[in-house]
Amino acid sequence: MTIAPVQRSTSIGSSAWTDARLILALEEVVEKELDRHLKVAKEWMPHEFVPWSRGRDFPGVLGGAAWEPGDSKVTPLGRVALVVNLLTEDNLPSYHHEIATMFGREGAWGTWVHRWTAEEGRHGIAIRDYLLTTRAVDPDELERARMSHMSEGFASDNAHSMLQSVAYVAFQELATRISHRNTGHYAGCPLADQLLAKIANDENLHMVFYRNLLKAALEIAPDQAMRAIADVVTDFRMPGHGIPGFERAAAQIALGGVYNLRIHLDDVLQPVLRHLKVMEIGGLGPEGLRAQEELGAFLDGLDAQATKFDERQAARLARIAARKQ
Ligand SMILES: [Fe+2]
Ligand SMILES: [Fe+2]
Repeated sequence: MTIAPVQRSTSIGSSAWTDARLILALEEVVEKELDRHLKVAKEWMPHEFVPWSRGRDFPGVLGGAAWEPGDSKVTPLGRVALVVNLLTEDNLPSYHHEIATMFGREGAWGTWVHRWTAEEGRHGIAIRDYLLTTRAVDPDELERARMSHMSEGFASDNAHSMLQSVAYVAFQELATRISHRNTGHYAGCPLADQLLAKIANDENLHMVFYRNLLKAALEIAPDQAMRAIADVVTDFRMPGHGIPGFERAAAQIALGGVYNLRIHLDDVLQPVLRHLKVMEIGGLGPEGLRAQEELGAFLDGLDAQATKFDERQAARLARIAARKQ
């Protein structure tokens, strides 16, 4: 990677690396990572995971049968999580807007933005087709939730900073991967599990792309990248936070073990931080060091919170088990 040797020695300061210079400096990495991504990403057919023969007409012009909860054997937790995952995927036009605005639509960055959008597009298509053919959720409610959620749009918390944007998507893609994968495990339907495993695999490759980009950013602008990582980790929210009834759904998803604090820390934050050796990076300037310390303190606090959550959860499960005896 060739980086113009300007301002490299300044320890920090927003003047050290502007977003425009970082985008230019990282273009070669994007090119390399895009190439790697295209080599490892295997084509797959979303329609092959949809049981079309199980589909039935709905009321309205076709005069079909109204949806009933008993139409599907998907678990209650699986239904809640599938809807949250789908509505999150549905807001793709807003996500595309955010990353196209930040990364641009030219050169390797642009090729990535469009390729990523095309891959993300199949996630919403496949999950919706699956839910409608299997009648796993109320289709009218789902459509109203989609309209409401997409009408709100999505505005990134990190649009002011290129490094924060990269750091956020590195964690967020992994969060999405874990959320899809665990939803599959708890859905009570082998086909949903297979479909979500496929989607999770896409999300994993997206995470690898952004994580490797973040690694390069840590090399060329270590103090600023460390600050960006600390800010993103300490203020992380899932992209679907604007979904109607999100808080309630998120609580069910947490209790059910699809996504909670412990999973967020152990399966999302730590793997990326460890891979990038974020807590071991030396030679930082004062601002980078401060960010690294803040991050360390935050992770300790999160671990304590997650332990409390785990204990409450274990006690709750023990009460449920005792009631059943
Ligand atoms: Fe996705
Ligand atoms: Fe993704």
